[in-house]
Amino acid sequence: MAGSTAKCKDWEKHVGTVMGMLTIGVLISGRGSNLQAIIDAVARGEITGRLAVVISNKPDAFGLERARKHGIETLFIPSKGKERTGFEQELAEALESRGVELVCLAGFMRVLSPYFIRRFKHRIMNIHPALLPSFPGEDAQRQAFDYGVKVSGCSVHFVDEGVDTGPVIVQIPVDVRDEDTADTLADRILAQEHRAYPMAIQLFAEGRLQVAGRKVRVLPRKGGTR
Ligand code: GRF
Repeated sequence: MAGSTAKCKDWEKHVGTVMGMLTIGVLISGRGSNLQAIIDAVARGEITGRLAVVISNKPDAFGLERARKHGIETLFIPSKGKERTGFEQELAEALESRGVELVCLAGFMRVLSPYFIRRFKHRIMNIHPALLPSFPGEDAQRQAFDYGVKVSGCSVHFVDEGVDTGPVIVQIPVDVRDEDTADTLADRILAQEHRAYPMAIQLFAEGRLQVAGRKVRVLPRKGGTR
């Protein structure tokens, strides 16, 4: 049937590695607790990959220390005072020359241009501390808290050309409690971010993510279920 053929074609985009070790690059600007969660998941064998490089656009990002402590290569590539294309070319070259297959944004405080995003199409992930499409942008936990939602959470998504608009891969909800402040809510969301990001990366590493437009389908594990 013509209709069903067209539908199959929609789902043809298959991303991630099918076998072997995924080479990961992480971009940070600060604290790096999500980076730490990724490092720990790799160490526990929950991500079948290796961290080739951690790059920060801030020289004093604490995440750089975390990476060094684990013997991971670190780079400081300044963005300040630099023309965007030049900065992104440096980033892309650093990642590509190290064979990076998946770029993970973990508290990286720069919006990437279409140039960079097309160069790594469907190979850039980001973690956002709200249930997208609600509360995109900065200070998402406080936005959700101030709005008065009963449930917030975190989202891992592929990065597209908008801000926090790319196809969603994994979401974990977090209940908002009466006694919460924006900070206590943010802390509980952060704990879930540390579960969600490694989960999404491992799905990519296993080649189990298929992207069709806005939708990400998670394929069952070979010979099993999800
Ligand atoms: C996290 O809340 C993440 O969702 C957001 O930036 C924060 C980074 O925290 N994109 P960390 O640097 O990973 O600790």
